[in-house]
Amino acid sequence: MIKVLFVCLGNICRSPMAEAVFRGKVRDSGLEGLIEVDSAGTGSWHVGEKPHAGTRKILRQKRIDDSGIEARQVRKQDFSESDYIIAMDSDNARDLIKLAGGLKTEHVSLLLDFLPESEFRDVPDPYYSGNFQIVYELIDRSCDHLLQYIREREQI
Ligand code: 4NP
Repeated sequence: MIKVLFVCLGNICRSPMAEAVFRGKVRDSGLEGLIEVDSAGTGSWHVGEKPHAGTRKILRQKRIDDSGIEARQVRKQDFSESDYIIAMDSDNARDLIKLAGGLKTEHVSLLLDFLPESEFRDVPDPYYSGNFQIVYELIDRSCDHLLQYIREREQI
């Protein structure tokens, strides 16, 4: 099983959206038996919560299933168990490297590194701005490229 873990700060807005969107694309490609998708936060404030209302609203509009998604914090074993750790912004990537405490982090990358010619490097945090639409568009487009990248690299 290839394991992909999306990471943001709170695990209620961006990374659960990426988890649901990417899982949908994996399912549509018939790869759900090969690719496992999860998400987590670098912070612990929202552990146990369902995704933010803004994330749920846009997923509902796009008819993307988010059932069973519940916030959790990144754990040490995520670094050994995940094949791809995809951070939503550069602060998340920096915090992941700190949380790893010396464990391998070569598999940590930024989601928008997969989006060609992106005008953003970081997926903007919608928690305060409320702009879930731009977050969805960035996640949707980059997840297509991420899935293509993983398929080529893993020969699946
Ligand atoms: P996320 O958004 O990292 O995309 O889930 C945030 C959620 C919560 C907070 C900040 C960002 N917070 O400060 O509680």
